[in-house]
Amino acid sequence: MSSSAPPLRNLLLLLILAAYPERMLAEDTSPVPGPASPVRKADAVCGKCHQDIFRKYLGTPMANASGLASDRIFTGGFRHAASGIDYRVSDQYGSLWLNYARPGDPGLQGSQKLDYFLGSGHLGITYLYSVNGYLLESPVAYYADSEAYDMKP
Ligand code: HEC
Repeated sequence: MSSSAPPLRNLLLLLILAAYPERMLAEDTSPVPGPASPVRKADAVCGKCHQDIFRKYLGTPMANASGLASDRIFTGGFRHAASGIDYRVSDQYGSLWLNYARPGDPGLQGSQKLDYFLGSGHLGITYLYSVNGYLLESPVAYYADSEAYDMKP
């Protein structure tokens, strides 16, 4: 799985870098978990010669604000009161899956493998999945404040 879609990852990185440049460096001072693998791999080229800069960068929120969903596994679930849909995000053998169902409504249920995460975790984490080469955002996100899943704003 690790080398399945390099062009998609590169595109994703470019989108992230284009969308969130200074904000993350300037404001986000939350402690960060281990480096996200696509960033680590992409920048390792520069790290061959710029070791100190590379190591320091890997500790920043910006270097950890996108990557494979399997690098940031948060599980949980809730019922969306307005629609009556139960959402559950679960770890299935190291892969993250979004499952949804409306009890009593067999027509409304399904599951989707989540491929990438977005966000340094300071406010929360959202996930992306891909369908036919398009990246789509999960309707539910993990929020740091409540340490729980909820609908996207
Ligand atoms: C083969 C070794 C090597 C690789 C790989 C490499 N660099 Fe460099 N880089 C150098 C050297 C040597 C210098 C000039 C000496 C110095 O300023 O430290 C330099 C200078 C720089 C500077 C200017 C630093 C300054 O203070 O003016 C930047 C910016 C830079 N590199 C970025 C990168 C980035 C980004 C990558 C990856 C895409 C990269 N480098 C990959 C060797 C390398």
